[in-house]
Amino acid sequence: MPSPSAVVPGVGIQALILCGPGVSLNTFTANEEFLKALIPLANRPLIYFQLSWLKKSGITDITLITPPSTVAPLQAALQQNPHLTSLPSPSPSVLAPKGLDLNMGTAELLRLPEVQACIKTDFLLLPCDLVCEIPGESLLEAWMVSQSALGGSSTVSEGRNAHGPTSSGPGGEQGGRRGGLSVYYQTQGREESVKGEGTDFVAIAPLGEDEAPAVSHAVDGPAALRHNLSKVVLSMPMATVKGKMEGDKGLLLRHSLTDKHPRVKMLSTFRDAHLYIFPYWVKELALRQERFQSVSEDLVGFWAKAEWQQGLGEKLGMDEIFHREYDHHAESGSHDGESIEEEIDLLAMSTTKSRLNVNVASSDPISFASRVKISDATEKPGLKIPPLLAYVQRGSAPFVRRVDSSAILLSTSLRLAKLESIEEAGAAASPFAHPQKIAHPEGIAQRCTITKSDCLIGQNTTVESKCVIKESVIGANVKICSGARLQRCLIMDGATVNSSCTLTGCIIGRRAVIGKDSVLKDSEVGDGYLVEDETDAKNEKFMIFEGLEDDEDMDGSEDFDSEDE
Ligand SMILES: *[C@@H]1O[C@H](CO)[C@@H](O)[C@H](O)[C@H]1NC(C)=O
Ligand SMILES: *[C@@H]1O[C@H](CO)[C@@H](O)[C@H](O)[C@H]1NC(C)=O
Ligand SMILES: *[C@@H]1O[C@H](CO)[C@@H](O)[C@H](O)[C@H]1NC(C)=O
Repeated sequence: MPSPSAVVPGVGIQALILCGPGVSLNTFTANEEFLKALIPLANRPLIYFQLSWLKKSGITDITLITPPSTVAPLQAALQQNPHLTSLPSPSPSVLAPKGLDLNMGTAELLRLPEVQACIKTDFLLLPCDLVCEIPGESLLEAWMVSQSALGGSSTVSEGRNAHGPTSSGPGGEQGGRRGGLSVYYQTQGREESVKGEGTDFVAIAPLGEDEAPAVSHAVDGPAALRHNLSKVVLSMPMATVKGKMEGDKGLLLRHSLTDKHPRVKMLSTFRDAHLYIFPYWVKELALRQERFQSVSEDLVGFWAKAEWQQGLGEKLGMDEIFHREYDHHAESGSHDGESIEEEIDLLAMSTTKSRLNVNVASSDPISFASRVKISDATEKPGLKIPPLLAYVQRGSAPFVRRVDSSAILLSTSLRLAKLESIEEAGAAASPFAHPQKIAHPEGIAQRCTITKSDCLIGQNTTVESKCVIKESVIGANVKICSGARLQRCLIMDGATVNSSCTLTGCIIGRRAVIGKDSVLKDSEVGDGYLVEDETDAKNEKFMIFEGLEDDEDMDGSEDFDSEDE
């Protein structure tokens, strides 16, 4: 093993962060200045979490992609927000493709000429709401090592060893095709889990002998991560699966899947982190396949299927992308890749019947073997599709989460507030720890109770006497008046909580004001909203409606920052 310092996996790879408008967090993005990327999570803008993660991974070529309407506030934040300006240079580029609108799918976005021109190497694609504690360099290393195990580009492994990835770019693929890597995480049974969180359906299979990374026993560090890689063979939002199950009265899987991958596991409580390491050729795949709308559902979904579904890779034009010779005539004319095989009705397969029914809601992965042998005697030397590797994060650490709803914004903020500060933990502190739990202790009155272990209080914030604050995150320049009681709350910058309020499980937006003697439970208050004195509310959303703008259809189902809701 090379020593970690000899490995600089991030060099030569670029990253694209998709900065969508944040429809799913609309209480806090009503004002255009406050795009999703700038929503505070544990007192730092969301975009800080991806930028600092990428920088730590050695990636410096970072592009933020955002609609033209939000360029100005994003640029301003990059230049002025102290958390963002404190990140190591160079600062990221901002790309605002002319044709990018709020409802555009992520794969459509990749086809935009400006984005096509921007992609020059293998690339990481990630959303602006991702918090990931898995070291990026471990993911990159795992990906690179498995690529060389596959006989993929040797230039990548050379790059790792010494000279930098001199040709990991467009041309560096002669030795074989590089695959990709995507990350999934468990949504349930975690401290930060919330009710009704969306999940994805993902089926994974063990890597083949020839694909297995060179680690066969449990070890620590990046190698352990490599040991846990598998291959994605199906991936789609759970909502799509439920729709299919209703339509088909069961989940239909193809024989060829279970035939090729008898040890397939299906996961239904995990979520696609939308964090992908893609080889350069994916740029061309996205460009050619005009029917791909979303990266996660279409591009990743079809790629995963193409690995085992004969003829699909050709249909997707992968053969042409790979400029590879193959025998066109081997394919029988009457056979269509999409319908070549019968489908297996899993519900009808006796031994798995009840378990699958249950599984859709449970967290146990199920394994099953193919019961039905189909004759595929005429195995043709088809197109070899590079695998899409899956890293499935199962334990509660390291932490991975997409923060794309108010409930997750709150639960994740509270979780991050429990991290020991750098002051307390020193070098052992989490990469997301703050220097201090209470940034401005002078602002806290004498007779207050604040549980420091699970609270975070920002710069210049004042807390008057007789307040009780537990398990909460309070931003900068906030005023908490005397006798207020806060528990499990997220109070954003510049807000005011007047005297004797009791807030439990609430999110209070920037510069909002809560009138005195109010009692709020599990409620959200939008930016700048004024809650009257003595308000008593539970499960309410207070926000200023400015009316939807005509050109914005806020439907949000397929738009590029919330494509899987
Ligand atoms: C690998 O998987 C095992 C078993 O699922 C798990 O205990 C371990 O924490 C995983 N390691 C990493 C680095 O993900
Ligand atoms: C601190 O708060 C005061 C009064 O609320 C304000 O005038 C000042 O600008 C704030 N300072 C910073 C650094 O935000
Ligand atoms: C608190 O409420 C009182 C009475 O409604 C008001 O006069 C006062 O200005 C408020 N304080 C703050 C800090 O908003």
